[in-house]
Amino acid sequence: MERTYVMVKPDGVQRNLIGNIVSRFEQKGYTLAAAKLVTLSKETAETHYSEHRERPFFGELVSFITSGPVFAMVWEGEGVIKAARQLIGATNPSEAAPGTIRGDLAVNVGMNVVHGSDSPESAEREIAIFFKEEELNDYQKDS
Ligand code: CMP
Repeated sequence: MERTYVMVKPDGVQRNLIGNIVSRFEQKGYTLAAAKLVTLSKETAETHYSEHRERPFFGELVSFITSGPVFAMVWEGEGVIKAARQLIGATNPSEAAPGTIRGDLAVNVGMNVVHGSDSPESAEREIAIFFKEEELNDYQKDS
């Protein structure tokens, strides 16, 4: 089954938005395969955001994402990678449609509440950064 990585950023955790964000994925019909509250090390943050290493905002991005706990999740279901991006909305909240997480809950491109993997390759890479294989729950398993 398709899986993607979604992370409530430090601003979302501090604003008590975890429940709101989790609800949207639950109500859409996706399944939570793994979740944990974790404070990222500088090394983990740099690895996660390595594709942005040359961007002028990279230092600011790493400093922000390590500034407090994030809520790391793996969501599972048909078409979840693309659908998660749609639920989350455009990177810049000022361009994000109403009804999306960023459209409803954020105003700033840096503090944009949530991150979601942008492709199957990113999803696989990002899930592996944050979770061990045995932490990914399998709802299909025989008991
Ligand atoms: P995210 O989906 O986590 O992926 C990369 C992040 O870089 C993005 O969300 C934004 O929060 C952040 N970002 C993009 N552009 C800027 C910018 N101009 N200034 C600060 N952060 C940015």
